[in-house]
Amino acid sequence: STTRRFHFNVEWKKVTRLCHTKQLLTVNGQYPGPAVVVHEGDTVEIKVTNRIAHNTTIHWHGLRQYRSGWADGPAYITQCPIRSKQSYTYRFKVEDQRGTLLWHAHHSWQRASVYGAFIIYPKQPYPFSHGSHIQSEIPIILGEWWNDDVDKVEKEMLKTGAGAKVSDAYTLNGLPGPLYPCSTKDTFTANVDAGKTYILRIINAALNDELFFAISNHTLTVVEVDAVYTKPVHTKAIMIAPGQTTTLLLRTNNLSNGEDFLIAATPYVTSVFPFNNSTTVGFLRYNNQKTKPINHLNRRRLTTLLSTSSVLPDMLDTTFATRFTDSIKSLGSPEYPCKVPTVIDKRVITTISLNLQNCPEHQTCEGYNGKRFFASMNNISFIRPPISVLESYYHKKSRGVFTLDFPEKPPNKFDFTGVNPVKENMNTEFGTKLFEVEFGARLEIVFQGTSFLNVENHPLHVHGHNFFVVGRGFGNFDEEKDPGKYNLVDPPERNTIAVPTGGWAAIRINADNPGVWFIHCHLEQHTSWGLAMGFIVKDGPLSSQTLIRPPRDLPKC
Ligand code: C2O
Repeated sequence: STTRRFHFNVEWKKVTRLCHTKQLLTVNGQYPGPAVVVHEGDTVEIKVTNRIAHNTTIHWHGLRQYRSGWADGPAYITQCPIRSKQSYTYRFKVEDQRGTLLWHAHHSWQRASVYGAFIIYPKQPYPFSHGSHIQSEIPIILGEWWNDDVDKVEKEMLKTGAGAKVSDAYTLNGLPGPLYPCSTKDTFTANVDAGKTYILRIINAALNDELFFAISNHTLTVVEVDAVYTKPVHTKAIMIAPGQTTTLLLRTNNLSNGEDFLIAATPYVTSVFPFNNSTTVGFLRYNNQKTKPINHLNRRRLTTLLSTSSVLPDMLDTTFATRFTDSIKSLGSPEYPCKVPTVIDKRVITTISLNLQNCPEHQTCEGYNGKRFFASMNNISFIRPPISVLESYYHKKSRGVFTLDFPEKPPNKFDFTGVNPVKENMNTEFGTKLFEVEFGARLEIVFQGTSFLNVENHPLHVHGHNFFVVGRGFGNFDEEKDPGKYNLVDPPERNTIAVPTGGWAAIRINADNPGVWFIHCHLEQHTSWGLAMGFIVKDGPLSSQTLIRPPRDLPKC
């Protein structure tokens, strides 16, 4: 197999957006960072050199890392961070995966600007093009920009116990577009020919927000999510949670209306007050047409165009969001069968909650009622251990690092109303708790939303495995009735799923990747508050089913 090598320098770079110039954390001075483009079956080696004063790590989001957990990247879960002036080479094989994924920093809030596309070309032809020629591929990474230093934003949030300062703009490939101050020159434009088929690779790298994405006057066809082929879905817009990726076919019209079309993204809900419901806009421009570019400077005209053509669903359009998410199904063809476990060995039901905690003495908290926010799963708020869980597990030295007593059922003392806006849960404890399963276990996890703050979905992300979303619903999960209604035929296979506000989602996993795997909310703020846990998959009986040895250059804590 081919080995593809990359070198990532994590370094500061002066970047200006919205008329604010600041030192931005980047890879190789690029924002967004460089795309990693590989082929299915390749071995990948990415040397990451830390050229800043802080620690860092990089995570290859959605890459399975079969037996190579040391290369997964989450700080203190599978590795100690890479220290200043040190390097670490992430080495892994891309097997039996193809499509659009992303990479991002996995240490504090560095992924606010340290992210990029991870694209895997398939061995076999695309199942969706039906021989029709793909003109070209257009990656579009959705992100957020803060005028402030993000490190400061994060520290402030942890200090006050309140929600973090919201971002100042959403971005398309790092560009906010003409609806933001000073940003007309920073507008993303995609040039296309009429009557052709394009692949759009949409990646949500935003820190804290689920987004709607659409292109005016164009129908989009979903053909893949999280690097797994789906049955084609035709839609005016998509909903995409942080950490999710969606590959779309775009058929360009034969006629344009004489103007550029709008490419736009706006939040479904936002995770922090006050809401930022602004919209990032770019342009789809037809080549060789006598089109006059939209007058970029005319903000009002653009805003009218956006709303009158109802390009995007409205904020909080839960009907659209639910219908769209539930419309995604595995392709389930003979070449790409859906491997959902139809029976299970273990079911774990866990609450996912935002909670309040009394303010530490001599501190003022600004969360709610003078208390501070935090988050938990089954009343356990995740604490980052002093060394990586994977190392301590591998060397059988778990003392002081983690325990294997993550509760498999929700606590009794818990309010399940999920819709009560001010119910305070004060029963939470702190810990680094995981659970363990045998190699090959067929695992079901039910995420039950219980937040006293009922304003958003929680995009739950599982490391090291894809999962099948067998059920989703509103209200409380009913262990007697709901499993009978699961989709065990063609559920979507993903790595990140939005657990509905005041509802639940059930996922099934073939736990066949030995190692330690993080599960967390992909809203970075919630991870900081402890909305995380993990599970361990033991080695299998065959030598080809065991975790490999730690690499020599694995960073030390
Ligand atoms: Cu994309 Cu643990 O993250």
